[in-house]
Amino acid sequence: MSEGKTPISLKMILIGNSGVGKSSVMNRYVNHRFTSMYRATIGTDFLSTTLEIDGEMVTLQIWDTAGTERFQSLGTPLYRGSHCCMLVFDVTSAASFGALDMWRKEFLVQGEPQDPSNFPFLVLGNKTDLSNREVSHGKALQWCEQTGAEYFEGSAKQDVDLEKLFLRGAERGLQQY
Ligand code: GTP
Repeated sequence: MSEGKTPISLKMILIGNSGVGKSSVMNRYVNHRFTSMYRATIGTDFLSTTLEIDGEMVTLQIWDTAGTERFQSLGTPLYRGSHCCMLVFDVTSAASFGALDMWRKEFLVQGEPQDPSNFPFLVLGNKTDLSNREVSHGKALQWCEQTGAEYFEGSAKQDVDLEKLFLRGAERGLQQY
């Protein structure tokens, strides 16, 4: 990066049902921490981290929204201006996977991306450390292929593949910048 150049700021938003692990994924990636205690997100939280992509310094702002219906309406205005959207579900919850369609549509309506058909959606199947899986890798991949999203699996608890996921999100977001 050349001296004095302002870093590029990208906004990535995490959405999905309550309890799928959005806050945990964000905290694990940015702060390298995980807790088994559940605390519902009220409204939104965000954390920033800096990455280097092709010699460019990129500040990635990761916005964690509330999955609970009670707080959802607070989250939707914050979808605007996103460069990338991460849809999170829990691989042990078919219901959370079934809700991806709704979340994707909600983002497209409320987020008003300039080019909806090319907007980057990443999907994360979280909690792969658990054995009581309800959503197969193949099923999730099929949904992603149909909707044009990229699929990742991982675990906020075991810190599997999260680096790769966020780097990819930032790369895709950079293409929208
Ligand atoms: P809302 O704020 O209600 O939208 O929930 P959220 O999606 O942010 O979920 P959160 O990160 O609060 O996690 C919910 C629960 O799942 C917590 O008890 C976490 O410890 C647990 N959890 C999150 N990720 C994992 C994971 O990868 N594996 C396991 N086993 N548990 C996880």
